[in-house]
Amino acid sequence: MKTTVDFLVIGSGLAGLQFALKASRYGKVIIVTKSAPDVSSTWYAQGGIAAVIRESDTFEKHIQDTLHSGNGLCNPDIVEMVIREAPEKIRELVNMGVEFDKNDNGDLDLAREGGHSENRILHYKDVTGRMIEETLIRRVRENKNITVREHTFAIDLITQHHLGKLVKRWHTDITCYGAYVLDIKGNKVDTILSKITVVATGGVGNLYQTTTNPPVATGDGIAMVYRAKGIIENMEFVQFHPTSLFHSGERPSFLITEALRGFGAILKTADGNEFMEKYDERGCLAPRDIVARAIDNEMKIRGEDYVYLDCSHLDGDKLIKHFPNIYEKCLTIGIDIRHDPIPVVPAAHYLCGGIRVNENGKSSIHRLYAIGETSSTGMHGANRLASNSLLEAVVFADRAAIEAVKLIDVIEINEKIPEWNIEGTTLPEEMILVTQSYREMQQIMSNYVGIVRSNLRLQRALSRLEIIYRETEELYKKSVLSRKLCELRNLINVGYLVIKMAQERKESRGLHYNIDYPEKRLNL
Ligand code: FAD
Ligand code: SIN
Repeated sequence: MKTTVDFLVIGSGLAGLQFALKASRYGKVIIVTKSAPDVSSTWYAQGGIAAVIRESDTFEKHIQDTLHSGNGLCNPDIVEMVIREAPEKIRELVNMGVEFDKNDNGDLDLAREGGHSENRILHYKDVTGRMIEETLIRRVRENKNITVREHTFAIDLITQHHLGKLVKRWHTDITCYGAYVLDIKGNKVDTILSKITVVATGGVGNLYQTTTNPPVATGDGIAMVYRAKGIIENMEFVQFHPTSLFHSGERPSFLITEALRGFGAILKTADGNEFMEKYDERGCLAPRDIVARAIDNEMKIRGEDYVYLDCSHLDGDKLIKHFPNIYEKCLTIGIDIRHDPIPVVPAAHYLCGGIRVNENGKSSIHRLYAIGETSSTGMHGANRLASNSLLEAVVFADRAAIEAVKLIDVIEINEKIPEWNIEGTTLPEEMILVTQSYREMQQIMSNYVGIVRSNLRLQRALSRLEIIYRETEELYKKSVLSRKLCELRNLINVGYLVIKMAQERKESRGLHYNIDYPEKRLNL
């Protein structure tokens, strides 16, 4: 089936929903999303969204904190733009119905997280993402110009390549005409032709065995843009959140928000000793790369599976009021956070790099935008500052919509695009092979491309991944498409990019730490 539309949005997290709501004032929008609409990293966000609200705070301070965390690789113009636009975007979210907690004086209750020099995190208890996601979905549902196709998986972007033209990598004249999408329940591939296509597919956490990301975070957008020969960058900067709940076998790993450390919780080893001061004068509130590496190091030298986060010295009633979700979750496994230390481990959490875009979210491919976590805007550099991600998503979704709506009257839809070719495919003989390769891929990435890397580990990861790559491509050519197979293929593409870019960076900086090049290069 062929459908035409003004705006095709792939993904229904904060970035996709916000873009759709803005663009719907100017044309028809289809959102495709591969699971239920609220299944997204956005839904899981706990800590909140950073913005300069308090009088004692300044844009300059938030900019400096962001640049410092980004370790020399942020684009200062982008950082300044996003931070200055933040208060206005927060007002818009509030006008749409998003609630943020207030203190007893009726002012916004601003929390502190690692790397921030001020309290500037707006939050709704410890379930900020759920509040944002549910509010925006309600607005989308009310909107007559937006159609949501759930359980619909974007397989590939359509470019000149599908018209039989040769497209080379780094080609400057590639155009996106829409996407082929798999209707998962109907088991058929549809063609959606669009004037503007927006990739808002989120992160890549499922590259790793331990991740805070939901199962949908499989880097599909990045892999699609890479196959379409768009520009991808900074993939080596995978952020590991220092504190996910250690609870064997649980996926995704439950996040213990950094705001809990901002509230006074302290990291300790099993014998009750504090250790963060050894690594950084900011202690438990040092930037994430430092805290995650410190925990990793303590676990390795002590041969332990986790460290502890201790809240027992804090006011128990206030703890429950601010962190009800964490309190309830820990109780289910027999931990009362008012008295018992919480076992925590680092977990893959966020990708700083991705699809390269300009200040309006425009990718290197004509008519194609990328927004939210899948994009690389220059905001985060080598290490994202806490709670700057929701902020980046909302600012860029807005900017992309403002830019894209200007184009829809001058673009004509290309009806000559062929439908998806399913000839020669059969049912996969053994779906179990896909599941096994998925696990192997996660093992390779976790063992060799984690928090601490080396040349040997990266090389080993590459040769192991190449075997799974070849096997999966064979399977892909002869199988009827399934979401699981496409996700595996995408994760292998994305894992390859992480390894290659990690190999190319001959230094340690921010989230990328290689023991063979422990120093930061002075001249980039
Ligand atoms: P997502 O919200 O992940 O949405 C991606 C969407 O794309 C999903 O709907 C998915 O189903 C869909 N999709 C993916 N591939 C396809 C495909 N092939 N076809 C169709 N649909 C597809 N950031 C902060 O700033 N503050 C926080 O407090 C915070 N807390 C976090 C806590 C957790 C546990 C996690 C996991 C992340 C947190 N982050 C936080 C990061 C932040 O939540 C994400 O970076 C942000 O929400 C990403 O939004 P997004 O719209 O780009 O992607
Ligand atoms: C957290 O609440 O610790 C996560 C915040 C973030 O990822 O920005």
